[in-house]
Amino acid sequence: MSELNLILIGPPGAGKGTQAENIKDDFDLPYLATGDMMRAKRKEDSDLGRRIAKIISEGGLVDDDIVCEVLIERIDAEGEDGFLLDGFPRTQGQADILDSSLERRGRSITAVLLIEAPDDVIISRLSGRRQCPDGHVYHLEFNPPKQEGICDVDGKPLELRDDDKPETIKKRLATYHEQTEPLVERYEDEGLLRRFDGTQSPDEVHSHVRKTITTLRLETDV
Ligand code: AP5
Repeated sequence: MSELNLILIGPPGAGKGTQAENIKDDFDLPYLATGDMMRAKRKEDSDLGRRIAKIISEGGLVDDDIVCEVLIERIDAEGEDGFLLDGFPRTQGQADILDSSLERRGRSITAVLLIEAPDDVIISRLSGRRQCPDGHVYHLEFNPPKQEGICDVDGKPLELRDDDKPETIKKRLATYHEQTEPLVERYEDEGLLRRFDGTQSPDEVHSHVRKTITTLRLETDV
């Protein structure tokens, strides 16, 4: 069976992490989220850790060279038979580095899954998001945990992410429109883009994404 090398893109809060939880299990893919990687790095007691913490809290993007180094290392270590990337690439520079790294390894992207949602939906979603330290995602209204404030999966306390404050959400959205949205056209031109309506319920989005990937896999295996 051919490998699945998938990318999830979309604005902050569109539901990439929520869908990734399902897709990684459906297709048995290693899940590589640069947001999780950068949040882990910012905890390091170093100049780099402090620099990353500042960028995240201001709603900006971590430098391409830092993100790419960490991500490509993880693809080589865990994603040699396929992968699901979340939050990467986010700039044209990152997309160029990913393409050339894969090409050097005789590999390529299978598809880019775009989850779309308008800014007003995102603002309301992110202010209600709660997350455990290991990254399991909930929403106070749309996807509440069984026990208030506690993760269903690992029993850890749920927190509000510090970049989910209203001012930072607006900055993250502006960063997305300016730096990441141009990748949508790039991947559309390359014939890799698949669009999903992120305003539907999480189950509906999941069902569409799963069908699309299943069809893609059948097509690439013919
Ligand atoms: P990252 O963690 O990647 O944040 P993001 O892209 O802003 O995405 P989010 O995690 O906020 O949203 P999501 O789309 O996963 O939505 P979720 O499923 O949680 O990055 C954080 C920071 O790290 C960046 O700002 C940047 O500084 C840095 N960084 C990361 N990658 C980088 C890179 N490549 N280059 C440079 N810097 C980088 O859903 C949101 C909420 O909505 C949840 O509460 C969920 O329960 C709910 N929900 C989800 N789907 C639905 C639905 N269909 N209906 C109703 N509610 C829903």
